[in-house]
Amino acid sequence: MENEFHQTSEHPGCAEHTDLRRIRTNPDFWYPVAWSRELRREKAIDVRFAGRHIVVVRPKSGAPYALDGLCPHRQVLLGKGDVHGDAISCIAHGLRYNRDGQCVSSDISAEAQCLHLRTWACREKDGLIFVFMGEQSLADKTPLPDFPRVRDKRYRTRRFGKVVNCHYSFMHENLEGSKNPLVLRSSV
Ligand code: FES
Repeated sequence: MENEFHQTSEHPGCAEHTDLRRIRTNPDFWYPVAWSRELRREKAIDVRFAGRHIVVVRPKSGAPYALDGLCPHRQVLLGKGDVHGDAISCIAHGLRYNRDGQCVSSDISAEAQCLHLRTWACREKDGLIFVFMGEQSLADKTPLPDFPRVRDKRYRTRRFGKVVNCHYSFMHENLEGSKNPLVLRSSV
């Protein structure tokens, strides 16, 4: 059990080291999936977390919410749908789902009324929208990550939204690497 989420390097001299690029994500945490500015009132967007489609909806009033991103009727992306008040309607055949994931279209068969989407805890802070994809009962007990510099007017935040097809740690290493000459030059 201890090593359930860790796989070690196969290099014989590094058996005790963890291969960072093989560590699974801990699902019991808040992860940012969108910038707040990307999601306007009464709009929805499709985001992906670990390959799973999630639709994030900003209703007419109140906080954003997150549901499974594929319509259970014919698996169409709900992120392409329209938001009416508090509900999102699927672009394909118009079924509506509320923030609890319940199908609320009135003019449909009893079978369709049983359609239900899984809901995910969703919060917004510091210009980011987060989802909690793990055990949902832990969401309220788990603090959101804090980025105090974002709120500090003495700092400017640069926001990148480009998707790069690589393990995230490659980006950390390369972005850090590009700053090294500046740090070295300023310390000489
Ligand atoms: S696929 Fe969504 S309503 Fe039919």
